[in-house]
Amino acid sequence: MAIKELTFVVCFWIVCTSGHEFFSSTDQTAQLVEKKKDLLMSFSQYIDAEEKNVETMKSALRNLLLSYSDPVDPEEIMRDPVTAYKLLRQLRDELINIVKHIQPSFYQCNEYQYELDFLEIPQMEDLNGAALGLIRLQEIYKLYPEDIMKEMSLSADEACHVGLVAFNEDKFQHAFFWFQYSLNTLTEYSATNKKDLLHYLSFSAYRFGSQPVAIYFGQQLLNLDPTNDEVKVQLSLYRRHHLLRTSNPDIFILNTESSNYETLCRGEIDERTSKRQRALSCRYSTGGGNPRLMYAPVKEEVEWDEPRIIRYHDIISDREIEILKNISRPLLSRSETKRGVSKIRTSQSVFLKEDYPVVARVNQRIANITGLSMKSAEDLQVQNYGIGGRYEPHYDSGDDENERIATFLIYVSVALVISPNGIINIIGLHFGVALKPKKGSAVLWYNLLKNGNVDLYTEHAGCPVLKGNKWVANKWIREFGQEFRRPCSLSYWE
Ligand SMILES: *[C@@H]1O[C@H](CO)[C@@H](O)[C@H](O)[C@H]1NC(C)=O
Ligand SMILES: *[C@@H]1O[C@H](CO)[C@@H](O)[C@H](O)[C@H]1NC(C)=O
Repeated sequence: MAIKELTFVVCFWIVCTSGHEFFSSTDQTAQLVEKKKDLLMSFSQYIDAEEKNVETMKSALRNLLLSYSDPVDPEEIMRDPVTAYKLLRQLRDELINIVKHIQPSFYQCNEYQYELDFLEIPQMEDLNGAALGLIRLQEIYKLYPEDIMKEMSLSADEACHVGLVAFNEDKFQHAFFWFQYSLNTLTEYSATNKKDLLHYLSFSAYRFGSQPVAIYFGQQLLNLDPTNDEVKVQLSLYRRHHLLRTSNPDIFILNTESSNYETLCRGEIDERTSKRQRALSCRYSTGGGNPRLMYAPVKEEVEWDEPRIIRYHDIISDREIEILKNISRPLLSRSETKRGVSKIRTSQSVFLKEDYPVVARVNQRIANITGLSMKSAEDLQVQNYGIGGRYEPHYDSGDDENERIATFLIYVSVALVISPNGIINIIGLHFGVALKPKKGSAVLWYNLLKNGNVDLYTEHAGCPVLKGNKWVANKWIREFGQEFRRPCSLSYWE
């Protein structure tokens, strides 16, 4: 009998007999004596099985200890998206392994259940999310699997998983590349099966529209498995389509079509634009005459003129950054957009109240710098982006009565590679301002024109994180209370 069922017998017996009233019936007592024999038998078997289980647990622990290397800074590990994916997968497997061993003995009796519930095992969904993050990075930054695995390589099994995730998302070219990589790195220890890989290679190529390649891999599969009729049918289907189709895209060459968002994140901006950017000035500000800044000027730089984007340097210290991160870490949850959780925004965030002195200080500093009232501003939001984390093009202001008049975005991360060109955010998708992160600096822009309309040039986006751990803090300042601080205008243009 499996140990699980034995545990069940023991637990069930204790639970089910405890409700009986034995003193009022001698028959019940007699039956109990009979049952006791059975129970002693089960109990003895249970102990044998438990002893065996302890042995397997010990050997599992030995293996886990063997593979455990001393804590390198986990944040450092997470800098590389491939390493982060591997780590997540490894943790999931190991935790499942531990729980699998603990469960038969304790879990059924409920006593230890709550401790196990505390053990948060990464779900398959997390792993798929991490794989999708990798694929998204490849798409936006035009990377082949080899480009993204410079620091750390995936095993054949891991690559196959990434391929399957791509396949399920209809990203057939990327799926094809990952299956190909998996095939080339297959070893005798891989759980992945060569036939499955050939099938997926052939099918991805077919779905991508690359018939000759689909036929090539289909043929390979047939050579391995000559009696497989399904493969024969499929091959003849591919051959027929091959005759019908005129265009067969080359699956080996990454597609170059891309949106402005992607082009800008890749740093392919037009030379004229960057010249204009260089011509803009850098100076010390005294907060536009704001008396609170007269004595402590802040270094400001105009990143762009229209819409005006101003960068303030050194507005938050390393220590304040560390405290903000420490406060936020346990509170983070998946960020939402105006329409709830969405694929266009993959990060976790938390709104922090002024109960924390550091938050009150940062808010006051923003008030000092901008000269705007914080009365109707939202709480400071701290955000952390995951693997491939991004925020696709959007406006900060929508159709509220009390609109977000301005956005103050603080760069909190230490070292970070967002894109190959180091661009973190882009603003104004039509002309393209690509901002680079600098720890402790912040950028400010007005989402609204002085006449109260949304400035259509403030559409902006966060580029996907290629490497590193992206932390930012947002302060959205709203319209109410700014009447005397940023005078309105009736003009159509400002
Ligand atoms: C804001 O300005 C006031 C007045 O100058 C100053 O006392 C205070 O320290 C400033 N606050 C911050 C957080 O910089
Ligand atoms: C932040 O948390 C880490 C780890 O718990 C701790 O070592 C560090 O001292 C904390 N930093 C601050 C400034 O509170």
